[in-house]
Amino acid sequence: MNTTVFKMFAAAQPGIEAVTAWELVRLGVTPRMLPGGAEFSGPLSLLYRTNLWLRTASRILVRVAEFKALGFKEVVEKVARRPWELYIDPVKPLQLRCTCRKSRLYHSGAVAERVRAGIEKRLGTQLQDAKEGVQDAQMVIVRVARNVCTVSIDSSGRHLHKRGYRKQAGPAPLRENLAAALLFISGWDEESPLMDPFCGSGTIPIEAALLATGTAPGARRPFSFQGWRNFDKELWESLLAQARTGEAHHRPSISGSDADLEMVKIAKANCAAAGIEGRIDFRCLDASAAMPTGGKRGWIVTNLPYGARLQDGEGDGIRRWIKGLRRFDGWWLTVLCPKRMGRRLFPRLRPLVRFSNGGIEVEARGGWL
Ligand SMILES: C[S@@+](CC[C@H](N)C(=O)[O-])C[C@H]1O[C@@H](n2cnc3c(N)ncnc32)[C@H](O)[C@@H]1O
Repeated sequence: MNTTVFKMFAAAQPGIEAVTAWELVRLGVTPRMLPGGAEFSGPLSLLYRTNLWLRTASRILVRVAEFKALGFKEVVEKVARRPWELYIDPVKPLQLRCTCRKSRLYHSGAVAERVRAGIEKRLGTQLQDAKEGVQDAQMVIVRVARNVCTVSIDSSGRHLHKRGYRKQAGPAPLRENLAAALLFISGWDEESPLMDPFCGSGTIPIEAALLATGTAPGARRPFSFQGWRNFDKELWESLLAQARTGEAHHRPSISGSDADLEMVKIAKANCAAAGIEGRIDFRCLDASAAMPTGGKRGWIVTNLPYGARLQDGEGDGIRRWIKGLRRFDGWWLTVLCPKRMGRRLFPRLRPLVRFSNGGIEVEARGGWL
């Protein structure tokens, strides 16, 4: 059994770090929240569990080296002392990302070169360089801040929002991890009805159904750590098996609708790919025609159309929908859209969280109707 205690970092999109830290607490961890994520430590099983279960994180990094660095030679030597052979496969390409801040070593390209030299020295071989964004590349992330150099290896591989179910999407899909974050900050109880009347490719209702059924978001995708020399296949398979048997059987009414029939077809296909076919009621409807379902209380969580598309008459559709919200007395509403649009359309809702979505600053506002 591997008894090593790993120092790890769950990277999260700026704005939702607190949600990721809260998810870590739910996994029984005491995290330290930092800009861009949360730091925590624990055994190999925790590395696997966080990759498997965290719904809002972007990736899980393992801190391999942390040292004071004032000169380049020192970087090569200190990096070379770490057990890179446990993580790096010498035949796979290596990608390095480096940032330097408030430090004597300020040239990120030069630092990255020395880190690579240190890893190569340890492994006794030269590594291929991976181009940015190449699938299956091993990624090492270097951060130099106030003369302290932290070198981490990415254990996730593909970004964690890529659960594997979204085979197709519309022009403005919401990342799966951000959809999950919206559900958490909405305070949905996982049992009351949940509705997304602008559902597009279905991300919010699908994430809601995964949550309600206790389905691990990472159960259907590969991870980089599976290629590491310290990969414990038996442990990983036991965690996967536990995740499958532990699936809860809440059956809340979850629905998604969209005015575009093509989007509804895509949402249904994505739902089937997520292994929860039939759990969500997807329909082609104008949002203003969506009616409350199943009980007095429910949640509407939605990502409104915005930007250039509003010029094609979508603004009128949103106004019609807002007028009809009277029918949803007693329901909770969370809307995600650019800040000014949200303030103008929903002055009574309060701001919940702000982050960047596809390069646009957006805000979620929420409140009881
Ligand atoms: C920002 S996208 C939603 C993206 C979605 N969250 C996803 O992850 O794919 C907005 C969606 O609203 C739909 N839409 C626009 N006007 C509508 C209306 N009046 N009623 C229903 N759906 C509408 C568009 O077809 C589009 O799919």
